[in-house]
Amino acid sequence: MLLRKAIIKDITSIHNILNHFAKEDLLLPRSLSELYDHLRDYFVQEDEDHNKSIIGVCGLRICWEDLAEIKSLAVIKDWQGQGLGAQLVLRCLDEGRSLGIKKVFTLTYSPVFFNNLGFKEIAKETLPHKVWAECLNCPKFPKCDEIALMLDL
Ligand SMILES: CC(C)(COP(=O)(O)OP(=O)(O)OC[C@H]1O[C@@H](n2cnc3c(N)ncnc32)[C@H](O)[C@@H]1OP(=O)(O)O)[C@@H](O)C(=O)NCCC(=O)NCCS
Repeated sequence: MLLRKAIIKDITSIHNILNHFAKEDLLLPRSLSELYDHLRDYFVQEDEDHNKSIIGVCGLRICWEDLAEIKSLAVIKDWQGQGLGAQLVLRCLDEGRSLGIKKVFTLTYSPVFFNNLGFKEIAKETLPHKVWAECLNCPKFPKCDEIALMLDL
């Protein structure tokens, strides 16, 4: 498995993976345009043995001077439970540290996965207003039932 920054040719696979889980209501859908705009936010897991296919993705969105968000985390079903999701999050956290980010939050339906990585549940209301800009595009807005968690880097 190769964990690396996403590049242009990965976009279609990233789009397919995220929108597959969006249909299951586990993630926000992402348009191709949005993925191209924010390509540099994303890391991918590449299966080096089978046509270099993309089997996992995760993004780090910088929100403010000390704050970033883990977003769009997904590993395809056949590859789940092998540590790839945790590796993706840890790589995003490393990037956050190297950029000088102090705190990373996420909004998720899988709080236990993030608890295992040291994230602690917080009240959504404590997040800055800017965070909610993306939520305007969410089909569930304004009735967000995701759980917010934060990690101090
Ligand atoms: C959530 C997801 C990315 C986890 O990826 P993964 O590669 O299967 O996770 P890992 O193998 O790295 O698991 C790391 C640990 O978290 C646990 N874990 C994995 N998925 C979990 C979940 N949904 N809820 C609770 N714990 C979970 C694993 O058991 C493992 O624990 P361990 O270290 O004690 O064995 C994957 O299940 C997925 O793509 N789900 C669908 C998309 C989704 O729900 N994304 C939302 C996340 S914001």
